[in-house]
Amino acid sequence: TRVLVLNGPNLGRLGSREPDVYGSADHAHLAELCTEAGRELGLEVEVRQTDDEAELVRWLHEAADGRLPVLLNPAAFTHYSYALRDAAAQRTAPLIEIHLSNPHARETFRHLSVVSAVASGTIAGFGTGSYLLGLRALAADPVVTGS
Ligand code: DQA
Repeated sequence: TRVLVLNGPNLGRLGSREPDVYGSADHAHLAELCTEAGRELGLEVEVRQTDDEAELVRWLHEAADGRLPVLLNPAAFTHYSYALRDAAAQRTAPLIEIHLSNPHARETFRHLSVVSAVASGTIAGFGTGSYLLGLRALAADPVVTGS
């Protein structure tokens, strides 16, 4: 089963970006962790990152058309992008909202996610482990496994 892992703005800066908050792994390392974990779970994982809202919206359309399960870290778009929320709402397969940090333990503006209500679920606060937990959740989902 193919799975898209979609990362939003500034996540390409992982490793150097606020490492106290987001950890020391860079985006390439995160991508490697995800594809490796996917392989073990029988998932063909493709990891993408963009700073561009329109591109993220297009990728969600692609996922909806292809019935592809998604891990989505919308980054700052989480908190205000209705365009991203509407794109995610079209999902035809499980879509899990992912965060490295725990937004609820941070600034007030991060407490609202406009995406959560249209996601299958949310995993936040476990660093790169949030992605690995998300992949495990997808691998256990009967819609994804087709059983
Ligand atoms: C984030 C949390 C967001 O609030 C923030 O804007 C990010 C990353 C996370 O993974 O913890 O860019 O989505």
